[in-house]
Amino acid sequence: MKQIFTLLPTLLLFLSACQQQPKTPIFDDGTAQLWNAEQGPFYHSVASGDPTAQAVIIWTRVTPEFEGEVKGSWTVAGDKEMQNIVQQGEFTTNADRDYTVKIDVQGLEPDAYFYYQFAAFGKKSPVGRTKTAPADSTDQVKLAIVSCSNYEGGFFNAFGRIAEIEDLDAVLHLGDYIYEYAVGVYGDTTLGRHHLPNKELVALQDYRTRYSQYRLDPDFQLAHQMQPFITIWDDHEISNNAYQSGAQNHQPDEEGDYEIRKSAARQAYYEWLPIRENETQQLYRNFSYGKLVDLIMLDERLAGRYPQVDSVTQEDYNNPERSMLGKEQLAWFKNQLQQSQAQWKVIGNQVIFSNLDITAVGWRGLVNTDAWDGYPAEQKEIIQLIKNNSIPNIIFVTGDTHRNWAFEVPESIAAYKQNPDATVAVELGTTSISAPNADERQTTDEVLEIERRSMDPLFNPHLKYNNQRDHGYILLAITADSAVANFQVVESIKTPNTNQRTDKTAIVKNGSHKLIIK
Ligand SMILES: [Fe+2]
Repeated sequence: MKQIFTLLPTLLLFLSACQQQPKTPIFDDGTAQLWNAEQGPFYHSVASGDPTAQAVIIWTRVTPEFEGEVKGSWTVAGDKEMQNIVQQGEFTTNADRDYTVKIDVQGLEPDAYFYYQFAAFGKKSPVGRTKTAPADSTDQVKLAIVSCSNYEGGFFNAFGRIAEIEDLDAVLHLGDYIYEYAVGVYGDTTLGRHHLPNKELVALQDYRTRYSQYRLDPDFQLAHQMQPFITIWDDHEISNNAYQSGAQNHQPDEEGDYEIRKSAARQAYYEWLPIRENETQQLYRNFSYGKLVDLIMLDERLAGRYPQVDSVTQEDYNNPERSMLGKEQLAWFKNQLQQSQAQWKVIGNQVIFSNLDITAVGWRGLVNTDAWDGYPAEQKEIIQLIKNNSIPNIIFVTGDTHRNWAFEVPESIAAYKQNPDATVAVELGTTSISAPNADERQTTDEVLEIERRSMDPLFNPHLKYNNQRDHGYILLAITADSAVANFQVVESIKTPNTNQRTDKTAIVKNGSHKLIIK
């Protein structure tokens, strides 16, 4: 009895402390309306990425009911029933990383499928599927190549189709994974897919909310759950036409310090995407798919890009100091190209590398000054390096334009007109998942005429295929004999729709820079 009286004041103190400090419910940023209640607390499902022959990043987000540290566990298995457990461990996460979880699972077998799952609060996440890269020889590497997924612009039907591919090695997302605009600025507000938050992204919480919304889309979730992603940002993960020290869509008077905005955008990107964080703090990085493919992912926005010129007549246009990659990345890229022992070299590129006469496309100016044509000294330096070292089997894969392209990369358009063998590589440009292209503004007949003019040998003799109407992705299958790119286009982005077709196939044979279009 005496003991109880002694403990009573302590107990009362504890109870009143509990009453004084109620648990704070998690902040609802507006995305809770999109939650699938049965999936909680793993509303954002799971994802994997940056595969090597021995390791892969697995990712989830646990959304707790109340603020505070979250503890949980993860499991990797060889079967989708999660019986044959290969590895397991524990994690903690908290508000500092927006309750996201990233595990770099090491010591895996090469060229194999694995399944993974997280657990927290007595609940289990959906089971994800991933694949390690081959270590040595392999018959085929198959990649889905995507860019420009604008939630407000349309349904992510293409992601739904990518999720269904059985034998894919990875999805390469070449940027514009999100769009930074406020509601109604660059989308179709008739579809009911209004951007959250409803304002332009500037602060860390804005970017986090936008990623959360995109990753609550069922098709996007399924693609991440079923396939490993290798991602690189383009401009809209920060702000339109971004470069190292500014962006077209950044006015310091309105949006404040660009460095602060950039660091918020970068933090949210690293939190929400299954990217391996390395010591260099740089996003550009390489992946090896055994003896068959080296994949070189470039950062053409934040690593070292100089501001765009307004026009080619600007004095600074040909200044050799003006860089797309920055000195360090350029040296790294040149080294990668020269040292690569793999048969094929795939370059994960954001903006078009090939020369392109845009007067035929009907765009403003003579060249796209935001693309490599806007940085001619560095563009020529890379072309010369490939040519002088006779580096074979280079495939640039490119996003940004919301249109499909297949180029034989010329030494220059003038050189190509003289001799169609004056080429150094091929370039495959993918259309958008859902960001608008010419079809949203012009009639199909008008767009077909633009495509015909764009490919007119008088303007762009090296451009072998162009589609400015459709949305979808490239399915690229690489073997020792050839690289075969199927340009997959979806029937619609205006409604959920599972229909797709192959618009064209571009083939490049081992040792050639010539495209066969079927
Ligand atoms: Fe885009």
